[in-house]
Amino acid sequence: MGPGAFLLISFLMAAQGSAGVIDERQALMRAIGDDLQAIWDGLARGDGGAVEQGATRIAAQAARLSTLFPLDSFHPPSRAQPAIREEFHAFEDLALKLKEAAEGLAASARHTTLAEVQPHLTRLVRTCRQCHRSYIEPY
Ligand code: HEC
Repeated sequence: MGPGAFLLISFLMAAQGSAGVIDERQALMRAIGDDLQAIWDGLARGDGGAVEQGATRIAAQAARLSTLFPLDSFHPPSRAQPAIREEFHAFEDLALKLKEAAEGLAASARHTTLAEVQPHLTRLVRTCRQCHRSYIEPY
C-alpha cells in the first residue's frame, strides 16, 4: 500500500467520522421532533403523563446536544451553520434553554393542571425556533 492509498483511507475515515456525528445529531433532532408531537398529542388527549414523559426525553436529548458539533462536521448533508463554532457559548446557552424549558414543562405537567402547562410549551417551541433561525442554513 503506497502513501497515496494511506492518505485516501485516512480521508475516508475522517469523512466517515463526521458523517457519523451528523447522522447522530440529525437523528437526535428528529427524536426531539417526535417527542414534541407526543406532547401535543398528550395535551389533546388530556394525558399529563405523556406530556411529562415527552418533555423529560427532550430535556435528556438537549443535555447532549452541544457535544455533537465538532469542528469538521459543517458540510452536507448537514445544514448546521459554522457560526455554531464561532459563537459556541451562545449556542450552548440555547441548548441549555431548551433543557430548562423541557424540565419546566415536565414539572408543570406533573404538578399542575394541563391548562397551566401552555406557557412552558410556548417557551419550549420558541427555543427551537430561536436556535434554528440563527444556526440552520435555509434551503
Ligand atoms: C441549540 C440549538 C437548537 C435547538 C434549541 C433546537 N434545534 Fe433542531 N436543529 C438544530 C441544528 C443546528 C439542526 C441542523 C442539524 C444538521 O443538519 O446537522 C437542527 C435540525 C432539526 C431537525 C431536522 C433534522 C434532520 O433530519 O435533518 C428537526 C426536525 C429539529 N431540529 C427539531 C427541533 C425541535 C422540535 C426543537 C425544539 C423542541 C429543536 N429542534 C431545537 C439546532 C437546534
